[in-house]
Amino acid sequence: MLELQNVSFMVGEGGDGREIVRDISLSIPDGRTVVVTGPNGGGKSTLARLVAGIERPTSGRIILDGEDITDLSITDRARRGIGFAFQQPVRFKGLRVMDLLDIASGRDLSTTEACEYLVAVGLCAKDYLEREVNASLSGGELKRIEIATVFAKASKVSIFDEPEAGIDLWSFQNLIEAFRKMRSAVKDSTVIIISHQERILAIADEIVVLREGKVASHGPREDILPSLMGTAIVAPGCPKFIGSAVGAAAAAAAQKEAANA
Ligand SMILES: Nc1ncnc2c1ncn2[C@@H]1O[C@H](COP(=O)(O)OP(=O)(O)O)[C@@H](O)[C@H]1O
Ligand SMILES: [Mg+2]
Repeated sequence: MLELQNVSFMVGEGGDGREIVRDISLSIPDGRTVVVTGPNGGGKSTLARLVAGIERPTSGRIILDGEDITDLSITDRARRGIGFAFQQPVRFKGLRVMDLLDIASGRDLSTTEACEYLVAVGLCAKDYLEREVNASLSGGELKRIEIATVFAKASKVSIFDEPEAGIDLWSFQNLIEAFRKMRSAVKDSTVIIISHQERILAIADEIVVLREGKVASHGPREDILPSLMGTAIVAPGCPKFIGSAVGAAAAAAAQKEAANA
């Protein structure tokens, strides 16, 4: 179980200080898919960064399975089983996509296994496995590769920050399927997804609404979702098709496969 106890995070100094996470207490039990949503600027990404250890709370404690991890580094938290896909992906020099996936999973993946992770994020796998993770990849591609590494890592707690951004229509169902698979593949694992997407909210066991740095509501999907539908918080239906070459290639491949079946 992941627990946040009275967690606050302040930016700026003295009189200019502003609390962007304000006294949040949350318990996230094992074996759940939790979707965190709410208006932009509400503190969602900051909360994820606090849990992953990229930021340290100004006050409050973060507890994982009874252990206080508040003062642990990102690496130590990763070792304890926290995996995080950033909203803004990071670039690595000199590493191939295949290497990243191997490192994430902690073993040498077969091509087939590695491909599965990339297909989940809509990247035509064979083309990508040998690519170097450098400036030749677009921001959207990097982000998807990073999501794929979190799938490969299969951590106890996995956090995804707006994974739908840059995912085309064809890939979206694969992504949702990958979330489901991950939850069932790792026993008692928890998947935390920051999202506005209706179809991602629809797979939540629990929904947390963050507003102005506070928990505005938290409960089972059935209790929370009806009040969110139709508001600006929820992006309805499918994400817009992003006409990237990758998306188009993936869509064409899918059509071909369907035609051959
Ligand atoms: N390091 C920082 N310094 C100053 N302001 C920040 C910093 N990080 C986030 N903020 C501000 O805090 C608020 C919450 O940000 P964020 O957690 O990114 O919200 P969300 O992900 O819900 O859109 C925003 O107003 C943002 O501009
Ligand atoms: Mg954000």
